[in-house]
Amino acid sequence: MLGGSHAQAPKLAGFNRIGQVIAVVSGKGGVGKSSLTALLAVALGRQGQKVGVLDADITGPSIPKLFGLPAGGLRGNEAGILPAITRTGIRVVSANLMLPEEDAAVAWRGPLITGLIQQFWGQVLWGKLDTLLVDLPPGTSDPLLTVVRQMPLRGAVLVTSPQQLAALVVRKAVNLLKTLNVPVLGVVENLAYYPCPQSGEHHEVFGPSHAYEVAVAAGCDLLVRLPIDPSLTQLGDAGRIEEAELPELAPLVARLLGVVTQRAQA
Ligand SMILES: Nc1ncnc2c1ncn2[C@@H]1O[C@H](COP(=O)(O)OP(=O)(O)OP(=O)(O)O)[C@@H](O)[C@H]1O
Ligand SMILES: [Mg+2]
Repeated sequence: MLGGSHAQAPKLAGFNRIGQVIAVVSGKGGVGKSSLTALLAVALGRQGQKVGVLDADITGPSIPKLFGLPAGGLRGNEAGILPAITRTGIRVVSANLMLPEEDAAVAWRGPLITGLIQQFWGQVLWGKLDTLLVDLPPGTSDPLLTVVRQMPLRGAVLVTSPQQLAALVVRKAVNLLKTLNVPVLGVVENLAYYPCPQSGEHHEVFGPSHAYEVAVAAGCDLLVRLPIDPSLTQLGDAGRIEEAELPELAPLVARLLGVVTQRAQA
């Protein structure tokens, strides 16, 4: 267990017991990081894990919306900030939960954003968690560096999509993670194909896959290819992502559960 050695307030070091911290990273925006973070949280919860989600996308937070959590849902006391709790018990902290209204904008410069991410790690009463998932904004800028420096990451899940640009930019993320010594636990190619409901044939709507080359570059053999599934968008928009079923995620879920097992045995 990680006792919160990385810059957590001394009072919290005893209270927070976090088994593993995993970042969800992509190069390009809009490839499905937040959806995947939410779906992984749900899947790990269904396996009996206590899960938290730290929304490190301060200016474009989308985690509360996916879970149907209202703005203004964060409370705090002298001891720290209390996470919001979803219907199935996932603990969530996000800038959007601090705003008076869901569509209020956060127009902050880098240092303030960095400071808030640090607070989400250092001053939140997460309690005992098996897994804390960190949803990052796209790219390889400050928030990723802040998360890598402040939190004891077990590794990252890399999300890409079949567009060449996404593969190109995600390779930049691979290189940065290598430089920062963050292992890649899995590569997820989202929006990989559309399964024809009639024939079952897979149509590669956004072009041929680049996920294998991304996985090779990342030195990671775990590859999950997720279909285009309109029900995901509908459930996410309705704040009901906890009802989604995505069996294709199973190998990645197993990998993340395996990390906990290995750590527990160590
Ligand atoms: N496999 C999928 N099938 C259908 N729609 C999807 C799928 N994955 C994601 N989407 C939809 O694509 C949109 C973008 O997804 P999401 O917000 O998760 O991406 P993101 O990478 O977090 O974006 P950003 O870079 O802006 O943070 C959402 O409307 C989501 O519902
Ligand atoms: Mg997002």
